[in-house]
Amino acid sequence: GKSGYDHYMRKEIHEQPTALRQCLRGRVDELTGTVTLEELDELESSSPVQFVACGTSYHAALFGATLLRDRGVPAQSFLASEYSTDRIPVDSSTLVVGVTQSGETADTMRALREANRAGAETVAVTNTVGSSAARECDHALYIRAGPEIGVAATKTFASQQVALTLLACRLSDGSNHDVIRALRDVPDQVQTVLDTSQATEIAAEYAESDAFFFIGRGYQYPVALEGALKLKEISYRHAEGFAAGELKHGPLALVTEETPVFALVTGDDERAHKTVSNVKEVEARDAPVVAVTDGQTDVERYADHVLEVPASNEIGAAITANVQLQLLSYWIAHRLGRSIDKPRHLAKSVTVE
Ligand code: M6R
Repeated sequence: GKSGYDHYMRKEIHEQPTALRQCLRGRVDELTGTVTLEELDELESSSPVQFVACGTSYHAALFGATLLRDRGVPAQSFLASEYSTDRIPVDSSTLVVGVTQSGETADTMRALREANRAGAETVAVTNTVGSSAARECDHALYIRAGPEIGVAATKTFASQQVALTLLACRLSDGSNHDVIRALRDVPDQVQTVLDTSQATEIAAEYAESDAFFFIGRGYQYPVALEGALKLKEISYRHAEGFAAGELKHGPLALVTEETPVFALVTGDDERAHKTVSNVKEVEARDAPVVAVTDGQTDVERYADHVLEVPASNEIGAAITANVQLQLLSYWIAHRLGRSIDKPRHLAKSVTVE
């Protein structure tokens, strides 16, 4: 059941701290800074890595590829429906990682079959033990999120982010102490967001807008895409996510005082400061700005509202910022009276190509 929640989606959003602890259990050792993934004990090859996935899982794959590249491992992510061995170089030196919550998505299954046929080593990152993807691949890394009933993927995305972070540690050299420390804090940070979020108020203010934009850079770019997908999926409002730097290459033409822009600005690095500059461009067009921020830059000066996340590293911030956007989507769809757990035209598991 829904344990007293109106919708499975809300229940699953609130289950995230537990789901993330479950994903981490027994897999990290803070003292030695090591990550142990028993399921991948036999894993041989390591690079280049190709991720294949659809929808929300593709956004997690983008996040995973960024993590790997940052650690010196060549990695790319592909939409499974666009993946074809005719065009994409894949052979026995490639590690192909299918990211799929259900483990049954037809497009992803096809890509994994092609990868196997080409002799690649394959891993399924999935929530479903014994699923088609788990059986097709050489290895299965389970995200352990527990069953997800709502069509909108929520806790499974967060668990994919954590599982892919662990995978990136396993596939790269170098110390993992910092990452492990950050991951240890994430479940509590997500709980803090759940306990303090102002997303209900922001939803009330903007639910009637016809278009919403989400911008982010680096690790927050997939979160911008995911925020937009979640909103369109359950509210039926038009929403787009952009890499913050792309705004001025076209989308800025759509930005007016009618279009709220959600800017993901966390950390204090070059990426964050560049995104603040993009926020100023948006503000100059009189667009309402909601900053999703940990307060490390002065983005609040240019924002109408703030959705706060705890200070963390890039990984933690990408997880907690996404939780804010999940709540935003949920409350907008709730205000609009949508069928939140079963949006029109959509299925939980897409078994046709
Ligand atoms: O089961 P999968 O992770 O392979 O599903 C992929 C997509 O169909 C799925 O993530 C979809 O985009 C979600 N409904 C989004 O909330």
